[in-house]
Amino acid sequence: MDKTLIELVNKLQDALATVGTGSTSIDLPQIAVVGSQSSGKSSILTNITGREFLPSGTGIVTRRPLILMLQSTRLPPGAVVPDNETNEYEWGEFSHLPGKKFHNFNDIREEIIKETDKTTGNKGIIATPINLRIFSPNVLTLTLVDLPGLTKVPVGDQPKDIEKQVKQMILEFITKPNAIILAVTAANTDLANSDGLKLAREVDPEGNRTIGVLTKVDLMDQGTDVIDIMEGRVIPLRFGYVPVVNRGQQDIMAKKSIKQALAAERSFFENHSSYKHKANYCGTMYLAKRLNQILHNHIKNTLPDIKMRIDQNLKKYQTELTQLGNGDEQSPSSTVLQTVTEFSNEYKSVLDGQGKDVNSQEL
Ligand code: GDP
Ligand code: NA
Ligand code: MG
Repeated sequence: MDKTLIELVNKLQDALATVGTGSTSIDLPQIAVVGSQSSGKSSILTNITGREFLPSGTGIVTRRPLILMLQSTRLPPGAVVPDNETNEYEWGEFSHLPGKKFHNFNDIREEIIKETDKTTGNKGIIATPINLRIFSPNVLTLTLVDLPGLTKVPVGDQPKDIEKQVKQMILEFITKPNAIILAVTAANTDLANSDGLKLAREVDPEGNRTIGVLTKVDLMDQGTDVIDIMEGRVIPLRFGYVPVVNRGQQDIMAKKSIKQALAAERSFFENHSSYKHKANYCGTMYLAKRLNQILHNHIKNTLPDIKMRIDQNLKKYQTELTQLGNGDEQSPSSTVLQTVTEFSNEYKSVLDGQGKDVNSQEL
């Protein structure tokens, strides 16, 4: 079976997660979402996946990084994905529960909460990520990392230095040159004060691996728009900015579906005097497509380096395995060894192939 670059890297990600952090120095390309609390980070991820499984609410909900690996699947001819949270064509798998398929997205949310609480205690945060793969015909193959939002003031039993802790954790992810930074700013706030952009600029001052997202465009004052930002006249970024409109709290309470929200978003941009001429460059669907392209190119560019580090680690895993004795075929090291070998073997054919991720997955 043909694998896309992103799928191959996702598999590697899973395998490495089973041996725990620290045992490897291979940092894989990922898109990390950063921004202030309540800027709309979870809403963006929810719209991109089309399903509601990210725990959300007021306050600090995301307390562990969530590595979200979206994998596009093919729908059997004639089949239609029903618009409810349980169906046979979409499912999630956690790397901490190998082999278990979650077809119910409410169960996925429960598991994220359970796994977060189990490891972080009360309101604490922890840097060890949860690895979740979502298989669906409705997603583009993409790897995103949901991170805790930047906060200023500790609430409840949070430690006094919660701001520092969160910042440290985010920096851990975005400092890696392999990380693409998705910097989220609410359009009804000042871009110059954007926490997400500020942090992004600390590690990527040239803006070479940062993409901006402007949320809440629907909440801007009458007569104002984000055209100047989009056209690079405020804080220019090489990958630019994508404006989006997510569901507001009222929409969520009124149980507006994601499908309806995406249609409303599209119509907002197509009918707005400021955006209608560039509506193709606005909205969640465009953002997803753009991220898929950027991630694909990024992986392609960093592949020689990944390959080199993989080959170095291959030796290490072989030694580890030998030390463990020969018996246990299911040991984490043997799984990693298998995947890493597979990666090395497939590397060449994938690198030689064309940009499948983008080309085979038209929206
Ligand atoms: P996070 O803390 O960054 O993950 O932010 P959330 O995604 O949880 O959003 C915080 C609040 O802002 C929620 O009540 C959302 O419904 C609302 N929200 C997010 N994006 C938009 C948007 O584009 N327009 C409107 N009107 N509300 C939004
Ligand atoms: Na929130
Ligand atoms: Mg959130």
